[in-house]
Amino acid sequence: MLVLLTAVCAVTGNAPPASGNEAASNFKLRCSSCHGLNGSGDTSLGKTLKAADLRSPEVRKQTDAQLAQVIANGRNNMPPFVNSLTREEVRALVAYIRKLAEKVQK
Ligand code: HEC
Repeated sequence: MLVLLTAVCAVTGNAPPASGNEAASNFKLRCSSCHGLNGSGDTSLGKTLKAADLRSPEVRKQTDAQLAQVIANGRNNMPPFVNSLTREEVRALVAYIRKLAEKVQK
């Protein structure tokens, strides 16, 4: 995915849409330690804290608003991000999580 984006950008000479790019780097920076880069939660920290597999049917069937709510306010071992991410950034992360799930389905 990242490779593809980079390739596309190299060809067109354009940066990818800011939100998608930002979500990817936010996810890597703030979420991947627990949820893994692919969203599986299959990291040592993720396993210890029982981080959700963000690609699972349980997550997929939830609405954007529900997922955004958990990201903003946290739940159990999931820390709240309401003070470190804007609503826009949270929304972009929800969209990013949807993309991670799509990748598994294919
Ligand atoms: C410190 C580890 C940790 C970090 C960092 C973290 N999470 Fe989580 N996350 C968890 C855990 C643990 C759960 C499961 C919460 C529960 O049991 O209710 C969870 C649950 C979730 C859920 C809800 C899944 C469901 O089943 O409803 C979403 C969405 C989510 N995380 C997204 C994110 C995003 C986006 C980020 C980065 C901004 C992030 N998480 C960062 C540990 C983490």
